[in-house]
Amino acid sequence: MSSYTPTPQDRFSFGIWTVGWQGVDVFGPATRPPMPAERAIHKLAELGAYGVNFHDNDVFAFDGHDRDERVAAFRKALSETGLVVTTATTNLFSHPIFKDGAFTANDRDVRRFALRKVMDNLDLAASLGASVYVCWGGREGAESGAAKDVRVALDRYKEAFDLLGAYVVEQGYDIRFAIEPKPNEPRGDILLPTVGHALAFIERLERPELVGVNPEVGHEEMAGLNYAHGLAQALWQGKLFHIDLNGQHGPRYDQDLRFGAGNARGAFWVVDLVDSSDYSGPIHFDYKPPRTEDDDGVWESARACMRNWLILREKVRAFRADPEVRQALSEARVDELAVPTLSAGETWRSVRDFTSDVEALARRGMAFERLDQLALEHLYGVRP
Ligand code: GCO
Ligand code: MN
Ligand code: MN
Repeated sequence: MSSYTPTPQDRFSFGIWTVGWQGVDVFGPATRPPMPAERAIHKLAELGAYGVNFHDNDVFAFDGHDRDERVAAFRKALSETGLVVTTATTNLFSHPIFKDGAFTANDRDVRRFALRKVMDNLDLAASLGASVYVCWGGREGAESGAAKDVRVALDRYKEAFDLLGAYVVEQGYDIRFAIEPKPNEPRGDILLPTVGHALAFIERLERPELVGVNPEVGHEEMAGLNYAHGLAQALWQGKLFHIDLNGQHGPRYDQDLRFGAGNARGAFWVVDLVDSSDYSGPIHFDYKPPRTEDDDGVWESARACMRNWLILREKVRAFRADPEVRQALSEARVDELAVPTLSAGETWRSVRDFTSDVEALARRGMAFERLDQLALEHLYGVRP
């Protein structure tokens, strides 16, 4: 059994805002003191992380008065620890100016200001070497029907991505955008609520090749969806630019539990999929250490995110290597799905009058229960 100790080769990264979350919620104030970005960097490096993602205002204040000095401290911490900035993003949700959204706010000047704020942080992101820029439209949405013309809002959303695409191309930045879907919270209904909505939207952009998705475990599960299936479709479309890993117990408020907590069975299939895919971005955690925890609890939960990934990685690899699993996969005809329905040279004519023993096919069991029980037994730790 390995020690489950992360190394930079595991490419684990964290949002600065995750371990820095002070525990403010709608019912009560902070339970932990503020954490400067450089402290988060030093501690995450000690724990074996590889990189970080940051919002502009995780590093410096909204009014920018301390920008130079805070960015210098941020850079210094990065160079002292060797941590890399894999990803960056913009806070377009905290300040009251964004109460009705940013790219899709009804107020035109808010939209113009939001674009300027993103371009400012793209400059910083490029200078720090980030290659992915996350766009979570938390405030893009509405609570009531007449307040937002959704079709027109989507025009403005597209306009924003077209403009930002032009900006990175004309500045020569090697940066791609990753849209992060979420169904609700903080808005009653958020635009681009799921991976599927975002993938469809991207195809309507001027530079679709520059835009992919950043699916988050909790966000898809809040919508009752299968996160691993969302990831699989994003991979299939060449659009998995980033992942936000955390834990969630089904459809309810955004819990942002540490990765591996919540839906543990779902997490098993996420690791299985990512580990066997060509995804090469960071294994990124976007969670919130619960409000109950002190500073020690914060680092315990950060360590646990990485540890749970490594534990599950060991389990999924053992599952895939298990001869009984291989046998069960074959009995479930899983490989047969990879055989195209038509052979080379065939057309619809070849199956136009296809007949088979319908009764016999209908009687055949799929043997999926045996296969799934083997997976659960690997997860439960009762198989060697
Ligand atoms: C949330 C979101 C955010 C974003 C982050 C990056 O539900 O709060 O997941 O954490 O990922 O703001 O833009
Ligand atoms: Mn979330
Ligand atoms: Mn997220």
